[in-house]
Amino acid sequence: MLLLCLESSCDETAAAVVRDGREVLSNIIASQVDVHARYGGVVPELASRKHLEAMPVVIEDALERAGIGIEAIEGIAVTRGPGLVGALLVALATGKALAFARDIPWVGVHHIEGHALAIQLEQEVTYPFVALIVSGGHTHLYLVEGVGHYRILGRTLDDAAGEAYDKVAKLLGLGYPGGAVVDRLAAEGDPESIVFPRPLLHQDNLDFSFSGIKTAVLNYVKKQSSEISGSHLNDLAAGFQRAAVEVLTAKSLRALKATGLRRLVVAGGVACNRGLRQSLQQAAREGEFEVFFPTPLLCTDNAAMLAVAADAYLSQGHRSALDLNALAGWPL
Ligand code: KG4
Ligand code: ZN
Repeated sequence: MLLLCLESSCDETAAAVVRDGREVLSNIIASQVDVHARYGGVVPELASRKHLEAMPVVIEDALERAGIGIEAIEGIAVTRGPGLVGALLVALATGKALAFARDIPWVGVHHIEGHALAIQLEQEVTYPFVALIVSGGHTHLYLVEGVGHYRILGRTLDDAAGEAYDKVAKLLGLGYPGGAVVDRLAAEGDPESIVFPRPLLHQDNLDFSFSGIKTAVLNYVKKQSSEISGSHLNDLAAGFQRAAVEVLTAKSLRALKATGLRRLVVAGGVACNRGLRQSLQQAAREGEFEVFFPTPLLCTDNAAMLAVAADAYLSQGHRSALDLNALAGWPL
């Protein structure tokens, strides 16, 4: 089945053409990051307007790159939630309109489900596996038993990992979103020189907490008499990254142990983080389990990731109704 997939849950407008939930023919992403950067975060109303402008453009681009016309599309997948409701509505309404006009089936997919299954577009990971979803909005551990079968194992009790990265970047004057910048600086710093707390590390659960690490960074910065720069800034980034990565690694290992599984999939924007990749790859070598990371384009928000679940649902005969609404908060 040839699917057109649409995603607009946050600040990326994305369209992709995917065959049989496997073969990505195109994966187009229009980022609004420049629009929101000056406000230090995503402005929901601006995001909706920009999605409206960009959606037709990314769809045309996705079809052109795939070398097909809209008449070749056999089904539509959209992100139904969670996300900013005004933003979600753009992909949802576009998907509905195309499905209605062309009389083809369509389905609304959970954004996190998309992230958790994106790896299947690149390599086949046998179910069941543990998924660590780390993004700007989410930090969750799931047991993924198959498409549509997810059990939550643990989650953040406050900030998401990416949110903590972005807040630390902001308070260090590194711009928005600054996760990747902190990652780059951390690679140059000494992670032992400034030590930050590891919240919930030794608690016997699979939950996370990142707001305490962020506050510790803020308190450290406030105590300095001059602006932090150069190697001091690198050390600060490295210390923060070490604390965040250590907690993410430890809880992922605990989730593997609790489920008895030996496959870990990591996804979401923070899965691009080099420190996290290194730490989990080393743990995998030592602990004899497999760890899978999608390529960065499939880690951050994109539309192709929706195709794995959508293809399975549509093939099983599942169809969303035309009165389906977006869900800003939608548990998985
Ligand atoms: O999955 P994503 O594109 O959007 C959400 O669904 O949130 O993730 C974006 C998040 C941002 O917080 C961004 O700062 C973070 O992923 N991020 C990183 C890195 N690259 C992106 N965080 C740490 N290290 C990175 N290399
Ligand atoms: Zn996401």
